[in-house]
This record gives sequence, structure tokens and C-alpha cells, in this order.
Amino acid sequence: MNLFDVYPLYNVTPVKAVGCYVYDVNNIKYLDLYGGHGVISVGHSHPDYVQKLKNQLSQIGFYSNSIQNPLQKQLATKLGEVSGCNNYDLFLCNSGAEANENALKLASFETGKKRIISFKNSFHGRTSAAVAATDNLKINAPLNQQQQVAFLPLNNIDLVKEELSKNDVCAVIIEGIQGVGGLDEGTTNFFQSLQQICNENKVVFIVDEIQSGYGRSGKFFAFQHHNIQPDIITVAKGMGNGFPIGGVLIKKNIQAKYGMLGTTFGGNHLACAAAISVLEIIQKEQLIKNTNEISSYFVEEIKKIPQIKKVKGRGLMLGVEFDFEVAEIRKKLIFEKHIFTGGAANKKLLRILPPLSVTKQQIDTFMDALKSILDN
Ligand SMILES: Cc1ncc(COP(=O)(O)O)c(C=O)c1O
Repeated sequence: MNLFDVYPLYNVTPVKAVGCYVYDVNNIKYLDLYGGHGVISVGHSHPDYVQKLKNQLSQIGFYSNSIQNPLQKQLATKLGEVSGCNNYDLFLCNSGAEANENALKLASFETGKKRIISFKNSFHGRTSAAVAATDNLKINAPLNQQQQVAFLPLNNIDLVKEELSKNDVCAVIIEGIQGVGGLDEGTTNFFQSLQQICNENKVVFIVDEIQSGYGRSGKFFAFQHHNIQPDIITVAKGMGNGFPIGGVLIKKNIQAKYGMLGTTFGGNHLACAAAISVLEIIQKEQLIKNTNEISSYFVEEIKKIPQIKKVKGRGLMLGVEFDFEVAEIRKKLIFEKHIFTGGAANKKLLRILPPLSVTKQQIDTFMDALKSILDN
């Protein structure tokens, strides 16, 4: 059997990874400033994380969702404590797409409506209910979904009001900071107005923190830069530092009922152990503080490079924009300088999503490599 060929692949085969480094089959060491699409939050193979997973595996690897798993409660308590979101309940699932799918399902149950408002250049996963499909992203939404989702420009509250006035919308979904689409974000005024008009119209306000959450923006959640409290928050990626896990944080005003949501694998023991370990490490190593320090350093240093037109994003969810496409630079960074970076729908944007434990020296290595490529 062959693999269904949907991913263009770089010719690199990693076999080992430690901290911010990945090693390939030829023992070439790569500086990982992308962390598999922003998944590596506390660093590859962190010893505490690995130990916790090993311990868990020697006890119980899997479970059934009809018997108790105390790790789920432990995880919910720890997440409430570290994120400051104690007034939410947690539903556990396995991925970002699944978290958004469940969030939208809840919104339709809650409102009895089905249309969704999302924003241009947003990305909410390959779900049947909400994929942001823009020409730019080259992601095709299934036909049944295209009528169901309105894609509005960011930061135009009047257009959102107009859609809500049709009285058929169950949810507004927005990323804390747009990831794949290219690091645009709502203004504080926009986020606050969205929350207000959603409340007024009894529409569920969902913030997708799958990429921007878990400290990446310099606060635990990116929406916390805007002093709001969404009805639902979705998480995944950095939550498990590479172990598949996702979650839906649901404000207490939405009532749970037996059978409302469900999953076979969600909240299994191994996933919970991974996610608890991530939160413990974020706290113990003050990784959000590190994120802010390294972010300021990165921005300061990158601005010294004359070819850079713009720096976008927050924390360690950053992008540098050129006035030319960056595909060649990314290739040179991988194959000549051995550094992983990311691209975006905006082909002139080079993205970095490193582990939150990245150091100034590692940023210096990147700056030197980038300068040498640009100057040659
Ligand atoms: C903001 C956002 N939401 C949802 C997803 C989908 O997550 P997953 O690939 O785990 O389904 C992604 C993945 O890139 C994302 O960036």
C-alpha cells in the first residue's frame, strides 16, 4: 500500500530530538524554530515529560470513557490554575480539528442555529463544520460547508453585526492570532465588540487558541491580551508537546448533559500525563517569561536586517515579511544552515514557532544564518 500523497515533504528524516534540536538519520543536527507547526511547547524530549509518560505507560496506557480517570480532573485543575481560566469546564479530545468541531457542535446545541461566522485567512482545521477556506490558503471547503460559514474581514464589526441580524448564526469563531493565514489579529476593540454583540444576540463566541495558546503569545491565551472571556476556548498543539491531545474549555453558563459530546480516545491516561507535565514545566521553568524575553530580543535583532519589511505576531508566534517570496530562503535555512522555519499563506512571510524554551544564543544562530543567506 502507498501513502495517500497529500503532503509535499522536505527530504529530511528526523530520528531523535532534544530541546530545540532535531537530529536526522545522518546525525545532522537541526535547530528547530518551527516545532512541527507550533506543537513543541516545552522542548523536545524534556526529561520530566519523558519520565512522566514512561511512568504512566508502565501503569496504564489506555482506558474507557465509562470508568474514572483521575488524571483528567488533575489536568483540568492544573489548566485552570496555570491559565487563570478557573470559571470554565474542560472537555478532552485528540486534536485541534476535533476541539473546534465539538465547540461548534455545542454552539448549535445551545442556540438551535447552524450558521457560523469566521474570518478571512483564518484556519480552524480540516473539519466538516468550519474550515476557513480562502483562495490564499488553497484549502477547499466541502460544498456543504460553504453555505454554512460566512468568511468576513477581520476588524469590521459592522459586517459581523449585519450577519448576526439574520438571526441564524450559532457561533462566531476567531483565532487568538491567525496562524497559517499569516499572523493578522483582531484589535482589542474588535475582540471586545465581538464578545459584546455575541452576548447581546445569544451567539456563542469561540476563540481558537490551538496555535496561539499555551503561552505562545506571551500570555497563556492570546485573547488575554484583550481583556475578554470567550464562551468557548479551543486548545491542542502545544498542550501535549507532541502527544496528540485537544481540549474545549467551556464557560459555566453552558450546561453539560450526558451524551452531549463523546470520544473514544479523548482524555486517555497517556495524553493526560503528557498535558499535565507540559503545564508543570511551563510553570517550573517560567516559560511564558522566557517567551516574552526572547520575543523582545528577536524583534530587536531582526529589525537590524535591512531586507525585512515587517515583523508580525506576538511572543514566540512571529513572522518576518520580505518583499519577495521566502520559499528559497526556507530551503537554504534547512539544507545549508540546518534550521527549520515555517511558511504561511502569505508567501512572503517566514514564520517562527520555536519551543518556548528557546535561548538568545539559538536566536543569534538564526540571525547569523539569515543574514548570510540574504547577503549572498
Ligand atoms: C488555529 C488552528 N486551529 C485548528 C487547527 C487544526 O488542528 P489539528 O491539525 O490538530 O486538527 C490548527 C492547525 O494548524 C490551527 O492552527
